[in-house]
Amino acid sequence: MQFENLQVEWRGPVAIVTIDRPDKLNALNRRTIEELHQAFDTFAGDDEVRAVVVTGAGDKAFVAGADISEIRDQTPLQARGFSERGQQLMRRIETMRKPVIAAINGFALGGGLELALACHLRYAADSARLGLPEIKLGIIPGFGGTQRLARVAGKGRALEMMLAGEPVDAETAERHGIVQGVVFDGLVLDRATGFAQRLAKSAPHATSAILAATDRGPDMSLDAALAFETARFALCCATEDMREGTAAFLEKRKPEFTGR
Ligand code: COA
Repeated sequence: MQFENLQVEWRGPVAIVTIDRPDKLNALNRRTIEELHQAFDTFAGDDEVRAVVVTGAGDKAFVAGADISEIRDQTPLQARGFSERGQQLMRRIETMRKPVIAAINGFALGGGLELALACHLRYAADSARLGLPEIKLGIIPGFGGTQRLARVAGKGRALEMMLAGEPVDAETAERHGIVQGVVFDGLVLDRATGFAQRLAKSAPHATSAILAATDRGPDMSLDAALAFETARFALCCATEDMREGTAAFLEKRKPEFTGR
């Protein structure tokens, strides 16, 4: 895959996407958003890809936000289109049925934190700073941040961060449940990729079912969500991987999942 603002590298079944505009701290301009759409559409349709890691180029930023120079020159109608397109990207990532992990190697601000929040899991370098500072520009998060931050950190913490616009450090982000772990600077991509490689060995249908149930369940009644869980459970029981997983357990060996 050839992109202007992304690099894509494969490590076995794991695709690593690096947002590559380091001189602009990897800010998301329109082109980068379109390229990310394209990349994730490809990963979704490629059975060889079992997990995805997202990171930023350079050692300073994951993504320092949507590109402010493009925001400034928009009409309100263009701004609506920009917000919707960004939201569609985040939803595309969130509804991926293979794990997507953010390796937050520096600033994750505005659209950068929104991108990380759309990923299923997040690890941060210990010098990373995470925040939704849009209010300082006289705007609000427009790629889902007003909703997703509250869902992981709680409404009070999210309001604190959005209304004051002040970023938090990685340790605070971990305490608030925004990231799952903090790693020494320079090691976060290895940590995220290592975990992605481990997840890539799991049974793909079961992985997909867990991601679908946790994504869709919260918008359903508990009874509907439990029925959804049952349906996916039953579907997993129709796979060769279920037979392999249970046989491997009983034969005291490691399972070899094939995705069938
Ligand atoms: N959009 C466009 N350009 C951005 C950007 C963004 N969100 N964030 C950083 N840049 C650009 C800067 O304009 C600068 O470009 P230049 O060298 O051509 O002037 C370059 O990236 C380096 O950033 P700089 O501000 O010089 O680095 P710093 O170390 O002094 O500060 C930050 C780092 C992250 C604190 C600061 O860049 C910042 O506050 N960025 C904006 C964060 C934000 O508000 N995000 C939400 C946007 S909706």
